[in-house]
Amino acid sequence: MSSEQSIVIRAASVRDLKAIWEIEEASYAAPWPKETFFMDIAFNGDAKYFVALLDKHIVGFIGGWFTDGKLHIVNVATDPASRGLGVATQLVLFVLDLARDLKIDSAFLEVRRSNTGAQKLYESLGFSVTGLKPMYYPDNMEDGLVMTKELGRAHPGD
Ligand SMILES: CC(C)(COP(=O)(O)OP(=O)(O)OC[C@H]1O[C@@H](n2cnc3c(N)ncnc32)[C@H](O)[C@@H]1OP(=O)(O)O)[C@@H](O)C(=O)NCCC(=O)NCCS
Repeated sequence: MSSEQSIVIRAASVRDLKAIWEIEEASYAAPWPKETFFMDIAFNGDAKYFVALLDKHIVGFIGGWFTDGKLHIVNVATDPASRGLGVATQLVLFVLDLARDLKIDSAFLEVRRSNTGAQKLYESLGFSVTGLKPMYYPDNMEDGLVMTKELGRAHPGD
């Protein structure tokens, strides 16, 4: 990635739904319905979504629920053509920083047991496996691993 191509992150709005959903559809065998994103972005006061732009194009997004003193990262995905450039890393770091600013002390997420790429991403950012949700994913009854990060102290690279 060249210096002109630095990643810009900004809050998402319903105007970004098309771009978000195209990335979602390209990223998951069982994508969320478009309506789920719409409801979450437009009506869920606890939800915050952000998009990452490279060269002014949306190449990734992240959604988190900031509730009960915790950050629940509910979705993160990068356009397949822009993977391996640090987009998801920047998105996760962004919401972790925001959570710290909001005095939130921990972040967690669920990840498919088979999704070792995403698990590596989260591990590299200081998350570790803290639980198991058997048959969490209804499309194939796959287990979900719960990964958690305490936000009290900075992790190298944060
Ligand atoms: C997982 C995902 C979000 C990673 O996005 P990305 O922008 O390519 O991630 P980054 O470039 O920030 O990767 C950072 C690190 O994560 C790890 N990583 C990310 N994807 C990986 C993969 N497919 N295999 C192995 N390690 C991977 C690597 O350690 C990587 O560092 P490196 O490039 O120096 O090796 C992306 O592959 C994706 O959208 N997948 C489909 C949706 C998904 O699975 N989302 C997570 C649901 S829990």
